[in-house]
Amino acid sequence: MKTIAIISQKGGAGKTTIALNLATAAEEAGHSAVVIDLDPQASAKGWHDHRQKESPVVISAQASRISDVLATAKQHGADVCIIDTAPHSETSALAAARAADLILIPCRPGILDLRGISSSVDLAQLAKRPALVVLNAVPPRGPLGEQAEEAIVPYNIDVAETRISQRAAFYHSLTVGQTVVEFEPDGVAAEEIRALYKLACKHAGMIASNKANKEKRTA
Ligand SMILES: Nc1ncnc2c1ncn2[C@@H]1O[C@H](COP(=O)(O)OP(=O)(O)OP(=O)(O)O)[C@@H](O)[C@H]1O
Ligand SMILES: [Mg+2]
Repeated sequence: MKTIAIISQKGGAGKTTIALNLATAAEEAGHSAVVIDLDPQASAKGWHDHRQKESPVVISAQASRISDVLATAKQHGADVCIIDTAPHSETSALAAARAADLILIPCRPGILDLRGISSSVDLAQLAKRPALVVLNAVPPRGPLGEQAEEAIVPYNIDVAETRISQRAAFYHSLTVGQTVVEFEPDGVAAEEIRALYKLACKHAGMIASNKANKEKRTA
């Protein structure tokens, strides 16, 4: 089982959006996914409550219980656990980062967001785990994505080659208890999320799809 922690001390960067979208992309790829919601606001859990499907499982937990929750997920056959964290909580983000095989730091391309990533980068370095910044909500046209990538160079952290664009499908899908791979499976947003999941698998050291399981689920 591999664990991916989504951390960003900045509010609204897209942690929950990316956690839920990666979890459903994992399920689509034939992996059994669990989302661990460490945010007391429980947005991920709330999304699951409005969902027609049981998978992916979303578990609300406290940071102090993270190892037990991960051990239980592993016992139940999870292939991948995705930890969604709260903003402005270093203790919880650090616990998630330490438990992870890969840390993803979502960041919007605005200047204030870019300036705000230093504390998340520090946490990832403290945890000594592989980490990638994921540019999120990038306008599909214009130079903002490139400019953001340049602005991250001084932080000495890798930036995911897959960027996530600003698209209405991201918020419309969450409103109805889905994610983009379910809401608009042939859309650009779904393609980006699948590409990000593939990249995350590569960096976390796992094979990006389980073909036998995938066929069973779509049969
Ligand atoms: N790529 C995107 N395109 C369009 N809307 C997006 C995108 N990513 C996130 N959003 C929207 O931005 C808002 C904030 O996203 P989200 O809740 O995922 O951020 P967060 O980092 O989890 O926030 P918090 O720090 O409060 O937990 C939501 O309304 C979400 O639908
Ligand atoms: Mg959130």
